[in-house]
Amino acid sequence: MTQDELKQAVARAAIEHVPIGCIVGVGTGSTANYFIDELGKIKHKIDGAVASSDASAQRLKKLGIEVLELNNVSDLPVYVDGADEITRHLSMIKGGGGALTREKIVAAVARKFICIADQSKLVDVLGRFPLPIEVIPMARSYVARELVKLGGQPALRVGFTTDNGNVILDVHNLQIMKPLELESTLNQITGVVASGLFARRGADVLLLGADKGVQTLTR
Ligand code: A5P
Repeated sequence: MTQDELKQAVARAAIEHVPIGCIVGVGTGSTANYFIDELGKIKHKIDGAVASSDASAQRLKKLGIEVLELNNVSDLPVYVDGADEITRHLSMIKGGGGALTREKIVAAVARKFICIADQSKLVDVLGRFPLPIEVIPMARSYVARELVKLGGQPALRVGFTTDNGNVILDVHNLQIMKPLELESTLNQITGVVASGLFARRGADVLLLGADKGVQTLTR
């Protein structure tokens, strides 16, 4: 199976986890796009969606799915999103598409986080994929210096602005042995809006697309 076929397979499997008559949290990226397409097929069975990016919101609307403001939603039974890397403990690196902050917010509200990923995303140790960090623009150089002190090599994502009007630093060369600790250290750097490290609020379920079928891993 190709990587795209694996992404499609996990997107289809995720539909089984969507309760009838609920509002669905929807992530961002190529795997999440496949999920949005599947959601379009059952749109009459859901009450709408909350999107983690403008791009996903647009795709949902094009399919005729109502997109609600998160502030107007009190209960979000499920959030479905991809990942750039994920461990067997269901900690993740996210933000390759730059939507990490809104993804983190929607994930925080959701009762269940279902990660959909092809087998290439499963790792023993997080960090080979550069860790995205959303930063207030005027704090960019300061935050970069602090990240160097932590052993990383930050690179500005050139020409990219987040949906929130901020910049992204992609941090290379981190071997993330203690994701929870690193996440709270990063949160304490002034100027950091959010990091793409999802350890405190990791996934609850991983639907992993492999050649032998979709495997389900739980926390
Ligand atoms: C978007 O900001 C990211 O967090 C995505 O969830 C992540 O990059 C996975 O994207 P793909 O499904 O395109 O690999």
